[in-house]
Amino acid sequence: MTQKRKILVTSALPYANGAIHLGHLVEYIQTDIWVRFQRMQGHEIYYVCADDAHGTPVMLRAQQEGIEPEALIEKMNAEHRKDFEAFGVHFDNYYSTHSDENREFAESIYLSLRDGGHIEKRTINQFFDPDKNMFLPDRFIKGTCPKCGTEDQYGDNCENCSATYDATELKNPVSVISGAKPVERESEHYFFKLSDFKDMLADYLSGHVQPEVANKMNEWLDAGLQDWDISRDAPYFGFEIPDAPGKYFYVWLDAPMGYMASFKQLCDREGLNFENWWGKESDSELYHFIGKDILRFHTLFWPAVLDGAGYRKPTAIYAHGFLTVNGKKMSKSRGTFINAGTYLEHLNPEYLRYYYAAKLSDGIEDIDLNFDDFTARINSDLVGKYVNIASRTANFINKHFDGKLLPESDMTHPIATGGESESIFEAFEQREYSKAVRRIMHIADITNEYINEHEPWVLAKDPEQKEKLHQVCSRSLHSFYIISIWLSPILPTLTSKVARELFGLDRDFLWQDLKTFPKTINKFKHLARRIEPKAIEAMLTAAKEGLTMNEETTVTTGPLADDPIKDEIAYDDFAKIDLRIAKIIKAAHVEGADKLLQLTLDIGGETRNVFAGIKEAYDPADLEGKLTVMVANLAPRKMRFGLSEGMVLAAGPGKKDLWILSPDDGAKPGMRVK
Ligand code: 2FM
Ligand code: ZN
Repeated sequence: MTQKRKILVTSALPYANGAIHLGHLVEYIQTDIWVRFQRMQGHEIYYVCADDAHGTPVMLRAQQEGIEPEALIEKMNAEHRKDFEAFGVHFDNYYSTHSDENREFAESIYLSLRDGGHIEKRTINQFFDPDKNMFLPDRFIKGTCPKCGTEDQYGDNCENCSATYDATELKNPVSVISGAKPVERESEHYFFKLSDFKDMLADYLSGHVQPEVANKMNEWLDAGLQDWDISRDAPYFGFEIPDAPGKYFYVWLDAPMGYMASFKQLCDREGLNFENWWGKESDSELYHFIGKDILRFHTLFWPAVLDGAGYRKPTAIYAHGFLTVNGKKMSKSRGTFINAGTYLEHLNPEYLRYYYAAKLSDGIEDIDLNFDDFTARINSDLVGKYVNIASRTANFINKHFDGKLLPESDMTHPIATGGESESIFEAFEQREYSKAVRRIMHIADITNEYINEHEPWVLAKDPEQKEKLHQVCSRSLHSFYIISIWLSPILPTLTSKVARELFGLDRDFLWQDLKTFPKTINKFKHLARRIEPKAIEAMLTAAKEGLTMNEETTVTTGPLADDPIKDEIAYDDFAKIDLRIAKIIKAAHVEGADKLLQLTLDIGGETRNVFAGIKEAYDPADLEGKLTVMVANLAPRKMRFGLSEGMVLAAGPGKKDLWILSPDDGAKPGMRVK
């Protein structure tokens, strides 16, 4: 090892109002692999995290559950820890932003910023929910986009036209919490003057962020830095601002301080000097791993806050992309919104670590979890290539050579690994895990080809070939040993078993073990099982059903579970459908048709002939005179019995179980349904 580095690493703090899901895990697995890799080099490294416990969503969820926010965050903290541990994500400390340490940081940093002249008070107009008696965060207001007119948009931006705006600009706003029409109210807010740090930030973006992120930051800087609103009004779950009763720090103000608070708790426990790590003169490295959605907070606000309060700034911010599942955004209705706990009931957590590693690079592109690819990859790489090396050779060493491997000096042709170690080392260091995995699997391929070529199972039958058998198996197991060391950051549990059980070490692998050569092996025990497609199916089914237990919806079985909601459409797509009230003036059987009824519909001055598949469900006589809803602009369809000029709307699985829609009293034929 060249020099012992001092490294502090964080992952983004997960919110305390939700379970850890496979999307979160991209980041924690990415970070954990990097930390384990550095730890294997012998560096002094700490990995800390915490729950992000404050904010309106946590407060509201606790209310919904009828418990105090403190009880909710405690429960979630225990759940989160359990999930992380199961996935081998090992934190040196896991804490909460709702802690004494964090309160101290939030207060003292705020006071430094205030005394440095970086805080300003200003009165703003904000939406207030008169029923709930509280100011509404943008995410809790919906209305019509002021730019494009799309309905049902959040208070900060429009998903249809991507416009950003103030919630007060929304048309027809409603409170998502109570359904009430929000009213505008004045309130005094505290702002952090980000623009005071413009020059520092312009400097900071070179060398501390990924190139594509630097470009983005440049754009933000050019567009001009807005002051940052760091206060929220009561009721709020958070820390009260010291000199401002009834005002609370915005969750995003005290969240990154949670990195410090968690590390402080670790320092106090382990006797480390906090100042050496966070002080201005610190000689340690500090890395934040984050998702690309929270770049602004980490590359603008956080460095500025640290700078203004007299702390060191991060050595680098490493952002990653989002997770898609089977090529699409994770979706509850598609059953691809998979919680960590659901995955764990069906599949080996290290398989996900391996799959993510095989996909991750140092960039911010999204990565896709495709379950066919996942199954194929694990079965082929881990079971078929890696583990197979040992299962094809170890037993011969045990049976014929008493577990002894040939010493290195006897290995005239060690399987080519020269040069690979360095590039694999570099790939891990640079967070180019997919590159590392490719190279490692290349060596696994070469080793398997070598085994195929020399056929130890044939050699074992010929006493004259005993020495050759010894050599072939020793070389292969040497290769297996090296590959296991390389894979250790990715597969800590599996490789720990290999180190301890097969190679008889009394610890996990270190990178320097690459330099030594194992002399003996123990009995080979089964290491990894193939993934059966039915395990994936069972997990996806459970993910769909699991919604009930953990999420806001209450669907287990029934229409939504059996027939999930289709992909979202834009309002404009919906608006193309012309639905009208129709009066059924005549209903009749159709000769020769066993499913159809012929309906004559009056849609206000125009009649339409429609064939509807409701014969088993309705007696024609019961339909005549009824009002219903029809799609009036559907292209006419030529059927065996005549032209069908539209469609009536009905619900139900079919046959007898079909119910046509009917409007409330007062609706008249021809009225538009919208
Ligand atoms: O986006 C999120 O999930 C936040 N809870 C991340 C906070 S990271 C840090 F700044 F605290
Ligand atoms: Zn819009």
